[in-house]
Amino acid sequence: MVQIGIVGLGCVGLSVVEILNKHAALLEQRCGHALVVKRGVVRDLAKKRPPVDFALSASVDDLLNDPDINLIVELSGQVDLAYQLARHALKQGKGFVTANKAMLAKHQELIHQPIGFEASVGGGIPLIKALKEGLSANAILSIEGVLNGTCNFILEQMDLGQSFEVALQRAQELGYAEASAHLDTSGQDSAHKLLILASLAFGGKIALSSVEVRGIEGIANADLAHAKRLGCCVKLLAQAHQEKGGLTLSVGPVLLPQSHLLAQVKGVMNGAVVVGDSVGETFYYGAGGGGEKLNPLVPWSSRAKPHLGRLTNFGQSPDIVLG
Ligand code: HSE
Repeated sequence: MVQIGIVGLGCVGLSVVEILNKHAALLEQRCGHALVVKRGVVRDLAKKRPPVDFALSASVDDLLNDPDINLIVELSGQVDLAYQLARHALKQGKGFVTANKAMLAKHQELIHQPIGFEASVGGGIPLIKALKEGLSANAILSIEGVLNGTCNFILEQMDLGQSFEVALQRAQELGYAEASAHLDTSGQDSAHKLLILASLAFGGKIALSSVEVRGIEGIANADLAHAKRLGCCVKLLAQAHQEKGGLTLSVGPVLLPQSHLLAQVKGVMNGAVVVGDSVGETFYYGAGGGGEKLNPLVPWSSRAKPHLGRLTNFGQSPDIVLG
């Protein structure tokens, strides 16, 4: 049995617990072991939260001193604590899983250690796995992504006429934003995620200072209206390009033609285009933030749902049977 100690029971932590419970049998079948949460660590024990069927404590030492725990899942969002936990787990031969992009961007050496960090970039999109395994025979030429759901949501709301402040507040209520939303809106969160992807794709430790970072804080509704008149939308785009002159990294708002693949990434969804020298262009899309309950099962893309049906009478005016 794998006994889990989970640090942080916010929106994402509670969602993880819920999925572990809901899919206990499925996960046991797939992993060959039962996955059971034994202990949770939270900052404030008195805070109102749904009941859980494991011990809660306010001290991480309770978890570190529990010899039964063999997998630490870190979802606290705290950089130093997450780093300490990672070091402890690696030293003790315990499993370690984290979604902490700020910590991984700072301590990139961990990216190449045997830890799990799939959810640190692109939320539910298996993008880390794609770079580590699926594209491993390619030299990566570029990565371009909408990697911050909060900014994407705010830009979409502003495009619909909402103010920046109200859109941000809604993103916070929905649990998309970081504890300090400035991390999202300043572009820093996207930069952290870009560094993780770039370190995987291009190797080595890349300094945060080498990323040109601009956020969406100065964008006005009028800018979005102007973009629309040009047949474009505004996206906060994280970009890494490996060219003859070296690696260039940037995060900032860009104008994308409505026909661009990444222009289809709406709301809190994330998307990334990765170009490999052999495979060419590949595209990844999925929910980028929030917990399971917050990510609609009906995808945003279904807004432009094509007619699904059988086409008959080929070569003539198509007779579509809907259903
Ligand atoms: N605040 C982040 C976002 C959460 O909005 O994308 C997921 O990393």
